[in-house]
This record gives sequence, structure tokens and C-alpha cells, in this order.
Amino acid sequence: MCGIISYIGDKEIVPLLIKGLKILEYRGYDSAGLCINNGQELKVIKRSGRISELEKSDDLENLKGDVGIAHTRWATHGVPNEINAHPHLDCKKEIAIVHNGIIENYVGLREILKKKGHSFISNTDSEVIAHLIEDFYQGDLTEATINALRCVDGTFGLAVMKKNENKIVAARRGSPLIVGVGDNEMFVCSDAAGILEHTKKVIYLDDNEVATITKEDYNIRDVYGNGIDKKVHEIKWDIGQIEKKGFKHFMLKEIFEQPEALENTLRGRIKDENIKLSLNLDTRSIKRIIFIACGTSWHSALIGKYIIEKINRIPVEVDYASEFRYRNPIVQEYDLVIAISQSGETADTLAAINEAKSKKAKTLGIVNVVGSTISREVDSGIYLHSGPEIGVASTKAFTGQVLAILLFSLYIEQEKGNKIDHSLIEEISRLPEKARMIFNDSEKIRKIADDLKESKAFLFLGRGINFPVALEGALKLKEISYIHAEGYPTAEMKHGPIALIENGFPVIFVLNKDNLTKKCLSNIEEIKSRGGKIIIVTNDRELEEVSDEIIYVPFTKEELSPILNVIPLQLLSYYIADLKGIDPDKPRNLAKSVTVE
Ligand code: M6R
Repeated sequence: MCGIISYIGDKEIVPLLIKGLKILEYRGYDSAGLCINNGQELKVIKRSGRISELEKSDDLENLKGDVGIAHTRWATHGVPNEINAHPHLDCKKEIAIVHNGIIENYVGLREILKKKGHSFISNTDSEVIAHLIEDFYQGDLTEATINALRCVDGTFGLAVMKKNENKIVAARRGSPLIVGVGDNEMFVCSDAAGILEHTKKVIYLDDNEVATITKEDYNIRDVYGNGIDKKVHEIKWDIGQIEKKGFKHFMLKEIFEQPEALENTLRGRIKDENIKLSLNLDTRSIKRIIFIACGTSWHSALIGKYIIEKINRIPVEVDYASEFRYRNPIVQEYDLVIAISQSGETADTLAAINEAKSKKAKTLGIVNVVGSTISREVDSGIYLHSGPEIGVASTKAFTGQVLAILLFSLYIEQEKGNKIDHSLIEEISRLPEKARMIFNDSEKIRKIADDLKESKAFLFLGRGINFPVALEGALKLKEISYIHAEGYPTAEMKHGPIALIENGFPVIFVLNKDNLTKKCLSNIEEIKSRGGKIIIVTNDRELEEVSDEIIYVPFTKEELSPILNVIPLQLLSYYIADLKGIDPDKPRNLAKSVTVE
């Protein structure tokens, strides 16, 4: 949520910041702005709307300087207009800040500062930080920032600059921030992607750390003033992975990337029918597993419950991370708490992990972004290696998560000394190829999307392991096409949702050929007889007659079926959004990683 990029060095600063912002735009796109120290003054330019609006500003021309901070906003406090856009300045217009997070005590702080004579321009919580720093400033920007941060409650990823000081001060609590170490240049950024073109050397700031960067050097302390030695990490992926590569949108590219992404999740993890996961965890002592996650990751956790209870016979609970953290959950030492997160930065999931740790449970992360906060907080982890996911709607991370859970489940069996189902291992190795086969039907799916795009609502139905797939199909559709959709267990439909059915109402069934097919057929008939339009995603070749539209997926084992079944649903949502003229990469009101509560 919100993207920050800051630079100190000799490169042309405006194009560098704008390009970085564009890469970070998936984090929020309500407004954007930048501040550059041009030698005489701090020059702030901001616009409401997308970065393309900021880019149009004539004021950017001839703007030069060697220190700058920039921000793309996902609004929390204050409407997304130009005044509330970041950067924010102090009264003297000598200190500029960009902030990601929420200052929870901003109302009280603002009152105190107003009484001291500070005047405020915006409705944001963030502006208090600029005035607080101004209030504490006695010749050292780092000291003033540290003192200011000791007064605030809440979360921040923060970059601060001051006229006449050739440095940037950056700080983090709860909102991701990295320092990029270049050659005679330094960066501060919310995400390595924003600076990858310039450097692959990064330092991940941890909570309550404050970095002071100059062109040549960096210094990191905690908010109590203690110096900290930090490791410089080398980013292993490159800029090519965050380009659209000829696809119209990142989402479409990421859907089509899934066969390779699945191969990457598998790479090196199955050898001679042995599961290789280097986990710092004694899985034999696990008595219960609790999954915590949000959104799409929560749906893969639900699938995880089916997989683990079936294969391992270990009881599994699945919690929304946001609920788990506040309900004083019963967690015991022999529980394993698994956090699933694409970004590894979701605030609720992170807080839930901390709750589990405080109750002495062991924690495991199933995370895509290498080096992300959750991956550093957990006792042990499995990276997805799905590659950067830029589209706001999660696609390849979802299928990677399900596969990673399955590998973990098989690993538990292996560690117990139990025999692993040989045919399941074989089927896993065929999975990427089977996923690829689904794309042969993408034109057919686009036509179905065209036919359905004006529908006002959809119902997605699935049973067993496919119930979470139905939920995921509904989430995908509503978040990028703004069409209301609900996911239900197929048989549950007659307990209420059936009232929605009228002529032409689209109902999407996700259905495996198994012992429940006949039961689902009755539910299909119940919808059909009320005029509903039946769209079936299935590996069963005998359902043509009962459907209005049918999308076949290759047959696979039950545990793997969600991975194949979800792909047509992702495509369907994508095409509906695109045909409606909506940018599926940046749907309204959303941001890729939700780093606020
Ligand atoms: O990065 P995370 O997996 O922790 O994110 C969780 C949700 O915010 C995320 O899955 C969200 O629901 C997506 N927009 C779904 O497509």
C-alpha cells in the first residue's frame, strides 16, 4: 500500500523517480508526487490520479537536483486529491516526507502541534510527521526524525529530506522499506522492483530501524539510537521479469506464466521421489496446523486444509489473519501456524504470525517475495519462486501456493517414514504441461466472457476441494470486473442463494469427475429448471448436455485439481474486465500488498 522511492546521486533524478514510481504503481494509484531539492528550495509536484497525470506536469521539465523523494498513494486518511497527495511539508517548507502506513494518534498530535503554532494543509495522518520533525529539529535530521517517531503510534515506511541537508532519512515500522546500495548513489524503496534497474544490492530494514543515506554511505540505527550492522542482500531476479513482454496486461502474462511458475516452485524439490525442503522444523511433532492468510492466499489455505487432512490426517484450522490476531486464539506449543502470503508484507498476516509466536507456536511461511517481512519473521519457510506478481489480482501465486502446500504435506509423510503415493508424485511432474493445455481454450473462454460481461451478478459453486476454487473464482471476478459474485459449496446453494436464480443468471460450476458428480448434477438441474445459465469447468467429459457452456480441463488427481480448475476462472475474469474496459492490473480502490490494517 503506497509506494515510496527516494534517490540521492548524480543520475537525472526526475525520470529515475517517475520510472520507479511507475513500477511501484501496483501498490496504490490514487495520487502521486515527488519532492526534489533543487539547491535553493524543496520543489514539490503532486497530482491526484495515476502517475501518468504527474508525468504530464510542465513543472517537471528542467527540474534538477541530486536528492529526491517520491510517492504513489493508496488513500487511507483524506480523499485522494492533490492536497492529500504526498510529499507533505513542514511549515517552513524545508522538510519533506513521504509516508506509507497509518499514524494512529495523529489527531492528538495534530492538536498539540497546532497549539504550538503549526498549520496543517491536508487531511492526512501523514502530515503530522513533517511538523513533528520540524518541531524536534535542532540541526540533525536523523535525530529529529528519531525523536518524532518516538511520539507516533501506528505504522510507517518513511522517507524524509531537508533543504540544505544532502541526505535522506528512512524509517520503518510495519511498512516494508529497503535501502538500495549503488555505486556513488543510494536509494530507498518500498520494493526492490523499483530500483532493480540501478542496483541489486539491498538492505531490508526491520521494524524500528532508521537509515540515514548519503551518496556514498549509509548508517542504520534503531529508534533508540543504537547502531545496527545490516547484511547487504543480492537480488536474484532481474528487470525483465517485471515487464509485460507483449501481453496486454500483467495479469494476463501472469496467468499464462503459470506452467513455468509451477515448474519453478517444483525445481529441485522432488528428487528420486523424495521431497526436498530445507525446513528448520520437526514436522513429526505437529499435532495441529493453523493456516492464517488473507484474500486469495486464504483460499489456498482452505485447499490446504483438504490436502493435509486427507494426506496427513492432522487437524487443520484456517483463519482470516485479521480475525485471528484479535480473538485471543487458542494456540499451543505443538501447533504449527502457517502464514500464506504472496507479498510477505500483508499487515494482518504479519500481526497474526506475531500473535502465534507470542503463544510459542512454531511458524512456517509460504511466501513468494524473497526477503519479505513475513519470510524473515517465521521460523521456517517455503518460497514459491513464482516470480514477481505485479497484477493486483493474484493468479500464479495462488497456484504456486497450492502446490507448495501439497509438497509440504508429502514432506510431512516422508519425515514420518510413511510411503508417499508414487502416482501423486508422477502427476505433480505432469502438472505444468497440463496447465499449459488449458490455454488452447483461451479464445473459447474469451467468447464466453463476451457473452456474460453484462451480467449483474454471478454464482460460483464447487464441492470439497473445489469449494475454495469457487470462492477464488468469485473473488477474481468481483475485484477486477466490479460484478458482484459469490462462491458457495454447491449443495449449500439450495439454502438461500437459489433465490437469486432467474432467466439467464450465470452459475459457474467447478466440478471434478468423482463420487460427487451425480449429486452436483442434481444441483445443476435445480438451477437449470429455474432458468439459470450453466457454465461448467470440469475434467468430466460427460457433462456437455447439461451445460450451456463447458470448459474442459485435463484430468488430474483431486489434490492437484484446484490448480487446473482455477485457470479458466482467472481467464474468464480477466476477459470480462478487459471487455468492459477496466484495467485489470489496477482495479479501483485496491492495492497489491495491503500493509495497513
Ligand atoms: O500478499 P498476500 O498474499 O498476503 O495478499 C493477500 C490478499 O491481499 C490478496 O490475495 C488479495 O486478496 C488479492 N487482490 C486477490 O487477488
